[in-house]
Formats: sequence, structure tokens, C-alpha cells
Amino acid sequence: MTALDHPKPQVAAILLEPLQGEGGVRPGDRAYFEQVRQLCTDKGILLIFDEVQVGMGRTGSLWGYETLGVEPDIFTTAKGLAGGIPIGAMIAKNFCAVFQPGDHASTFGGNPLATAAALTVCETLEKENLLQNVRDRGQQLRTGLCELQAAYPHLIAEVRGWGLINGLELQPDTPLAAAEVVKAAIAEGLLLVPAGPKVVRFVPPLIVSAAEIDMALRAVGRAFGHLAA
Ligand SMILES: Cc1ncc(COP(=O)(O)O)c(C=O)c1O
Repeated sequence: MTALDHPKPQVAAILLEPLQGEGGVRPGDRAYFEQVRQLCTDKGILLIFDEVQVGMGRTGSLWGYETLGVEPDIFTTAKGLAGGIPIGAMIAKNFCAVFQPGDHASTFGGNPLATAAALTVCETLEKENLLQNVRDRGQQLRTGLCELQAAYPHLIAEVRGWGLINGLELQPDTPLAAAEVVKAAIAEGLLLVPAGPKVVRFVPPLIVSAAEIDMALRAVGRAFGHLAA
């Protein structure tokens, strides 16, 4: 039985991010997601994943759900889909793909420039083997950030993430805020973004090189040096 032929569905869908982006760069717990998957299958509830931050290779697999190991019925994607040209998409399994082409009207929908850019991004991901780069550079970044954590254990509580979406969580008992780290990093030439009050997010482009990751690690190291002084 699927969500669409369940006699009296009380809940239409459950919507989750495989890894929470704004929520603090929190990778999903596979066991939890497996239970939600089972619940949705048993009760005829659609499982929807928001892949807007984690899709298009960001986690080292094409989709975040592949890194997680749990499959949704529907997922959304945007952001990296066309490398910065505005576009979004929703992908559904056949049984719940109820839209016919043109059903979902949108002022900028079906834009030829945006769709050409998205196709180029898809081709480039494959041709330049970017998923491997994401996994390798992600590992390099996390290793460097863990070294930083070892140097400043009173300031840094945890380093976590998948591929090239990583978070550095500050100790809860330090007055230091993520926004201050971001400001100090910008002064060192590195653009970062907070994910909540205590988490600094690292989301470099998928084409980032080993030398650039080293440069970024040196910059964030200098930033922590100033903040700890
Ligand atoms: C996880 C997530 N989902 C959805 C959105 C909204 O996507 P859009 O701006 O393409 O509507 C954002 C941020 O923009 C996001 O970070």
C-alpha cells in the first residue's frame, strides 16, 4: 500500500533534511531515518526529503539521501542545481508523481537559461569526477578542523559533516558566538557562514582544490588565534 491509496490517511507527509543545514549542520541519524521510513511505508505517509542544501553532490554522493542510506518518496533540490542560476526542482517516485508537465505554473518555470545551466552542472559533476573531489576535500577539511579543535578544546566542542558541508560547533559554555568567528575569518580573507548561534558552517565550492582547503584552514587557524588571545 502506498500513501496515495491508503483508505484514510491522517498525515499526508513527513518532510526532513538528510542533514540539517540551517539547524546547525547536523547529519541525520541513519537508525532514526530508517524508523521514519518504515513508519511512512506502514502508514501510507509520503516521506519527503529537502535536498536544497545537501543535494547535487554536496555530501559526496549525488543526493544526501544516498549518503544517509535511506530513500525518500519525493525530494526537492535547488541551490547548487544550476551553480547559482536560480532554479528548483522536485523529483518524485512514479507512484506519487501526480503532476503532468505544465500543471505547476510558475513565472520563471521552464526557463531555458536556468535549465541549460543545470544540465551543464550535471555534466560537469560527472566529467570532472567532482563527487570524489568532494569526498577527498571534505576529509581534508574535517581533519584540519579536528586539529584546530585539539588546539582549542575550550572553544571548539565538535567538528561534523558530510563531504563539503561541515560544521564547527563552539563550546556551549564559552561566550564566543559563531558570528564572531565568521567575522574574524572574513578579516583573514575566508568567507564562512553561521548555522545558528554556536555553529560555523564550511560549504566551499565542489571544485575546491587541496591547496585552497589548506589556505582556508590557515585562515581559520589565524582567526582562532586572535579570538583565543
Ligand atoms: C534546506 C533548505 N530548504 C529550502 C530552502 C529554500 O529554498 P529556495 O530558496 O530555493 O526556495 C533553503 C534556503 O534557501 C534551505 O536551506
